[in-house]
Amino acid sequence: MLILGIETSCDETAAAVVQDAKVLSDVIHSQVPLHAEYGGVVPELAARDHLAKIRPVVDAALQEAGVGLSEVDAIAVTNQPGLSGALLIGLEFARALSFSLDKPLVGVDHLVGHLVAAFLEFPGEAPPPELTFPLIGLLASGGHTGVYRMNGPLAEDMIQLGGTRDDAAGEAYDKVAKLLGLGYPGGPLIDRLASEGDPNQVELSRPMPDKKNLDVSFSGLKTNVVRYVESHGLPGNDQRLRDLCAAFQRRVVQALLQRAFAAAEQEGIRRIVVAGGVAANRELRAEGLRQSAEKGLEFLVPSRRASTDNAAMIAYAGSFRLRSPVSELWTVRMNPRTALPSVTRKGRGLRA
Ligand code: KG4
Ligand code: ZN
Repeated sequence: MLILGIETSCDETAAAVVQDAKVLSDVIHSQVPLHAEYGGVVPELAARDHLAKIRPVVDAALQEAGVGLSEVDAIAVTNQPGLSGALLIGLEFARALSFSLDKPLVGVDHLVGHLVAAFLEFPGEAPPPELTFPLIGLLASGGHTGVYRMNGPLAEDMIQLGGTRDDAAGEAYDKVAKLLGLGYPGGPLIDRLASEGDPNQVELSRPMPDKKNLDVSFSGLKTNVVRYVESHGLPGNDQRLRDLCAAFQRRVVQALLQRAFAAAEQEGIRRIVVAGGVAANRELRAEGLRQSAEKGLEFLVPSRRASTDNAAMIAYAGSFRLRSPVSELWTVRMNPRTALPSVTRKGRGLRA
């Protein structure tokens, strides 16, 4: 089954063609330069840019895959969560395509896309691990952070066991980077600086050290960085900056891993999959693998390109819904009162 995936929930206009787990094309237009000067995503600018780029990005994805629109079996589009104006561009484009081609349309939860991304098969990369359930999913992105029990690949199979009480992990990275005058997005910048720093040189609090709780909170850690800057001054581009980044990152990574391991123990599950933009973090990947090996657990990481926002994960997540035994398909409708998309069911089904 050839599925065209479309993703416009935040600051990436993305389209991909996926056949089962195999990625035939994966095109991403990043809006990072557009939002950089504001230190975060400006929703109105994001929506306007999605509108300008959606068609060329979809065309490029089809061309790269070497398939024509008529060969596509179905369209999968992110329907939530995200910036409503940004989501609407992808949704309306996908809906128009579906209508004009008379092909099924399926709405995909962005978080479900992230949670299955590690099982995508990218050309030129090592084959992905086998997708089996149950799994523990550790999702850490710019908008969301949580630990899930994954009983299957559909949204209703994901049971959230814990989440953040305030900022998402990526958001904490972005806010700390902004405070330190590093730029946007902060995750990759802090990741790079931290790799040259010594985390033991700066004392920062642990985000919610309660071992039994699967929730996490980053506000205390963030405040700690603010206090550090207030009392020591803003570090320049020097070793002190690298050490501060390393100390911050160490705390975030340990907090995330501790929740994932606690969830694995609580649920009696020995496989953990990590997902979301923060899954691209070098220390999270290395420490996750190291600590999992010590505990006899399997730790699955998506390739770095599958970690951050992309449309291949949306097409892949959509393929499970299209193949699910439920006779009706899920499709996307706009709630007329809120103008937010919601998932409803549609009569016609498509089976593999
Ligand atoms: O999943 P994603 O691409 O978009 C959302 O769904 O939010 O995640 C973006 C987030 C940003 O906050 C970014 O700073 C963070 O992921 N990020 C990283 C790294 N690469 C991206 N955080 C830590 N280390 C990285 N290497
Ligand atoms: Zn995302």
